[in-house]
Amino acid sequence: MARLRVGVLISGRGSNLQALIEAAADPRYPAEIALVISNRPEAAGLQRAAAAGIAHQVIAEADRAGFAAAADRALKQHGVELVALAGFMRLLDAGFVESWRDRLINIHPSLLPAFPGLYPQRQALAAGARFSGCTVHFVRVEVDTGPIIAQAVVPVRDDDDEARLSARILAAEHRLYPLALRLYAEGRLKIAGNRVTVAGGSAPEIAALNPSEPLASGRG
Ligand code: GRF
Repeated sequence: MARLRVGVLISGRGSNLQALIEAAADPRYPAEIALVISNRPEAAGLQRAAAAGIAHQVIAEADRAGFAAAADRALKQHGVELVALAGFMRLLDAGFVESWRDRLINIHPSLLPAFPGLYPQRQALAAGARFSGCTVHFVRVEVDTGPIIAQAVVPVRDDDDEARLSARILAAEHRLYPLALRLYAEGRLKIAGNRVTVAGGSAPEIAALNPSEPLASGRG
């Protein structure tokens, strides 16, 4: 079976790109990375693409519409069917988002719709949230909105700082993005309004409590 051709847009480190590359290294994985585009020439993710033998390009157009037009052309030249944003730190042109509607996904390091925008891990700590996590969602024009495909939850610990919480969330991201992409590639996602249903998908049964203490304290 032909694998889904995916274009990945990055701006930096590219650790999520790496997770997708590693998933796609298995020939049974239903998607392959056909092209990596970075808006920054110094993005470390470009080296990851090169090391994996994946076509990669820098599109450093300052103008938003100019970037969108060049990216769209490159994606089409490489036969891309789905675009995955992975740490892509630029706002996308609305026309681009509309023309890739339901074929454009993103990963964000919070449990959306909580903490959209910049520094979501810092926002979660400042709000005193007991859990945070990450979300893979279809992209809509408004930043960090769009039907949610999959989420992973991690606990916030009392001694967390932004770096520790970010690392815990990032480890979950590296599991979640390959899973969400696989579900898409297998044609198992159906969008109805803001909700996505996953054919054959199952949710965990048990609620997680944080702090997780037994009901009785054992005192008295
Ligand atoms: C990740 O936390 C991702 O969720 C966010 O930006 C970060 C990118 O990290 N959108 P990397 O470039 O994938 O390592």
